Amino acid sequence: MTNIDLLIIGGSGFVGARLTEAAIRAGRQVAYTYSSHRIQLPAASFQVNLQDEKVLEACIAETRPRAIIYCAVPHPGSGAELHKAVSENGVRRLLAVLDRSNPCKFIYVSTNAVFSGKSGPYGEDDTPDPEERQDQYRAYAMTRARGEQIALDAWPETIVARTADVNGRGIQGKLNPRLQRLVEQLQAGVEKNRLCDGYISPTLVDNLVAALLEISRDDFEYRGVLHLAGSQQISYYDFARMVAREIKADEQLVTKDTSRAWNIALDTSYTQSILKTHLMDVQEQLSAIFP
Ligand SMILES: NC(=O)c1ccc[n+]([C@@H]2O[C@H](COP(=O)([O-])OP(=O)(O)OC[C@H]3O[C@@H](n4cnc5c(N)ncnc54)[C@H](OP(=O)(O)O)[C@@H]3O)[C@@H](O)[C@H]2O)c1
Repeated sequence: MTNIDLLIIGGSGFVGARLTEAAIRAGRQVAYTYSSHRIQLPAASFQVNLQDEKVLEACIAETRPRAIIYCAVPHPGSGAELHKAVSENGVRRLLAVLDRSNPCKFIYVSTNAVFSGKSGPYGEDDTPDPEERQDQYRAYAMTRARGEQIALDAWPETIVARTADVNGRGIQGKLNPRLQRLVEQLQAGVEKNRLCDGYISPTLVDNLVAALLEISRDDFEYRGVLHLAGSQQISYYDFARMVAREIKADEQLVTKDTSRAWNIALDTSYTQSILKTHLMDVQEQLSAIFP
């Protein structure tokens, strides 16, 4: 199978699997890679552990894709070495074997975590400051920011697609674990203390997938950084309250945490101006998740 339409690196993950599924449904000729678990979808699959030599290169040689979407990311709690292997070295290796005479589009899925949260909301032109992060996401943030730059510097056909706080259902219909936990706790009457001065950009996985498919098509001409996230910045407090309302739990269970302030939200206004896919606000997202 050569000259396929789309190759999804990390197609067995939460976002990657929904993306593979949507690409199949859209009639795209798609293949995906997995590392530790293969998914049940009718597409060609390749086992690619980015720490192993040559398998990635062999996959590219066999598929010769017209577009690649890179969704691979180490599992939470992984060490700095693994983050570097997946978010930086994997990109470098992949770009080194792509055909320069017939360049394919390369979409690197990245994260709002490349920003510290000190001066959000962040636009596409803002400079990442992951070195300011001292939390558990530091290695993820640092290596993802380097991965973005490696791709932008080495490959003119690059789109960096940052997203944030992705919610929704995976290919088996299960909610993502973070939202599932919140729902279960609210339903069980557990009080949730949430930051009222901490701002995020919740994103619906279906909406992200639609936007990724749009930008992967040949007729989408922009190259550079895009923010494919929900259109609304909202505090953790207001988000949890909206979830409570949506699932008909007691909103009063959500109380205000005033201990810290930051804003890690993504401004999506420029991206929306060049994108046909409508980036959803929080109410639109919750109505789709809990119909
Ligand atoms: N989920 C969010 O809230 C969120 C927020 C911001 C940005 N993002 C971005 O969205 C993208 C996808 O995230 P996700 O939530 O879908 O992640 P995920 O569910 O953890 O999926 C990660 C994918 O990477 C693969 N992978 C892990 N280690 C690997 C390795 N050593 N070699 C090769 N592949 C490896 C996994 O394969 P196996 O499962 O087969 O091992 C899986 O396909 C990432 O770029 C992430 O930065 C996500």
